Amino acid sequence: MSRRLRVAVLGCGSVGSQVVRLLQEQAGDLAARVGAPVDLVGVAVRRLDAPREVEIADGLLTTDAAALVARDDVDLVVEVIGGIEPARTLILSALENGASVVTANKALLAEDGPTLFEAAEKAGRDLYYEASVAGAIPILRPLRESLAGDTVTRVLGIVNGTTNFILDKMDSSGAGFTEALEEAQGLGYAEADPTADVEGFDAAAKAAILASLAFHSRVTASDVHREGITEVTAADVQSAKDMGSVVKLLAICELRPGKDGESSVAVRVHPAMIPRSHPLASVREAFNAVFVESEAAGQLMFYGPGAGGAPTASAVLGDLVTVARNVLADKRGAGESAYADRAVLPMGETVTRYHVAIDVDDKAGVLATVAHAFAEHGVSIQTVRQEGRDDDAQLVVVSHSATDAQLAATVEHLRGLDIVREVTSVMRVEGGDE
Ligand SMILES: NC(=O)c1ccc[n+]([C@@H]2O[C@H](COP(=O)([O-])OP(=O)(O)OC[C@H]3O[C@@H](n4cnc5c(N)ncnc54)[C@H](OP(=O)(O)O)[C@@H]3O)[C@@H](O)[C@H]2O)c1
Repeated sequence: MSRRLRVAVLGCGSVGSQVVRLLQEQAGDLAARVGAPVDLVGVAVRRLDAPREVEIADGLLTTDAAALVARDDVDLVVEVIGGIEPARTLILSALENGASVVTANKALLAEDGPTLFEAAEKAGRDLYYEASVAGAIPILRPLRESLAGDTVTRVLGIVNGTTNFILDKMDSSGAGFTEALEEAQGLGYAEADPTADVEGFDAAAKAAILASLAFHSRVTASDVHREGITEVTAADVQSAKDMGSVVKLLAICELRPGKDGESSVAVRVHPAMIPRSHPLASVREAFNAVFVESEAAGQLMFYGPGAGGAPTASAVLGDLVTVARNVLADKRGAGESAYADRAVLPMGETVTRYHVAIDVDDKAGVLATVAHAFAEHGVSIQTVRQEGRDDDAQLVVVSHSATDAQLAATVEHLRGLDIVREVTSVMRVEGGDE
C-alpha cells in the first residue's frame, strides 16, 4: 500500500462534521475497502473558532477553501458547504486541478448541474452526488447504474422530510398548517425560516436531479413546476381522509409519450392526494421515500432517513469509496447521461387528476350544472360525492385524467357559476387508476 488517497473536505457543519468523524473513526475499514489509506488533508470552514461536533487534528482547519482545492496533492474534494457560491467556483477549481469531487449540494446541481458535469468530463474526473437527494437513501446510484438497462417511466418521491412531518401531523391530529409547522420547528424538523421546505424549493431541486438521471435529459430547477404546502388546509386533509387518501408533497417525474413517437418529460412538485393503499402513504414523520416505476422491473420503493448529519454523511462516504477506488484504478465512473435530450412539458400540458370540493346551493339541477362545467372543458368525472348541509350542500368531485390546463379552466368555470358558493378545495390526485 504505497499509494495514499488524499481528501479535502469543504464545510464542517451538520454533514461535514459527520463526514470528518467517519473518515477518522473508520480509517482502517475505509483503507481496506478503498485499497489504500485515506488521509484527511484539510477541512475548510468559514469560522475557525466555531464549536465543532468533531475533533479535528491541529493544522487541518482552514478558512482558505480556494487554496485547499488548488493544492496539487489532493485526490478527492468533498463539498458540503451548500448553496451556489462559493461552492460552484470551488468544485470547478477542484476538477480543473485534477481532483474528483463528491458533493451533497442539491441547490447547485439543480441550478447549474450541466456546467459541473462538463467540467468533470473535461477534466476526466468523477463528480458524484448521491447525498443530494433523499439523504441516506440510495436512489441516484440505482437510477444511474442498477436501472441503466431498463426504461424508467415514473419517479414519485417524498423527498422533503420537513413537509412530510407537517402533513403527517395534520393527518394524524387534525391540526392546521401553522400549528403543525410550529410543532415541526419546536422539534427541530423545520428551520426558523422554513421557506425552502414549505414552498417546495428543496423538493423541486431534487425533482430536477431525479428527472435528469431517470430520463437521460437535462432538467434544471427552473423547469420544475412548483407548489408548496402553505395553502393545504385541515379541510383538504379531512377531505382526503374521507376518500381513503392522504395528502403528501410529491416530487413527480414522468415520461410522457408524444404523438410523433418522441417522448417528453413532466416534472412537478405539489401537494397531492394519494390512496392510503399506495406504498408512499405509509411514509410517516420526517422520513423520505422514492417510488420508481420502470418498464421491466415494475415498481420499486426506496425508503429511509432523508436528512440529518450522519445519514447524509453515509451517502457521502459511499460515494467517496467508489470515487477513491476509481482514482486508484485511474478510471472514471459513469458521467452525465443526457443523450435522450427530452423536452420538458409545460405544466398546462401535464396530465393529472383533480379532487375538487365545492359548496353549492342545495337545489335541483345543481349536480347537472357542475357536471356540465367539467364536460365543457373535456374533463370526465370519475366519482361525485354529495353531502347536504342545511340550505347548502358540498359536492366532492374526482376527475379522470386530463391536462392541467383543462382542469384549471374547469375550476375557473365552477368559480363563476351562480350556484357555486365556494370552491373550498382543489388538489391533484396521484397514484391511483387514471
Ligand atoms: N443537513 C442535512 O440534513 C443535509 C441533507 C442532505 C444534503 N445536505 C446538503 O449538504 C450540504 C451541507 O449542509 P449542512 O446542513 O451540513 O450545512 P451547514 O450545517 O450550514 O454547514 C455548512 C458548512 O460550510 C461552511 N462554510 C460556509 N461558507 C463557507 C465558505 N465560504 N468557505 C468555507 N466553508 C464555508 C460552514 O462553516 P462554519 O461552520 O465555520 O460556519 C459550515 O461548516 C448542503 O449542500 C445541503 O443541501 C444537507
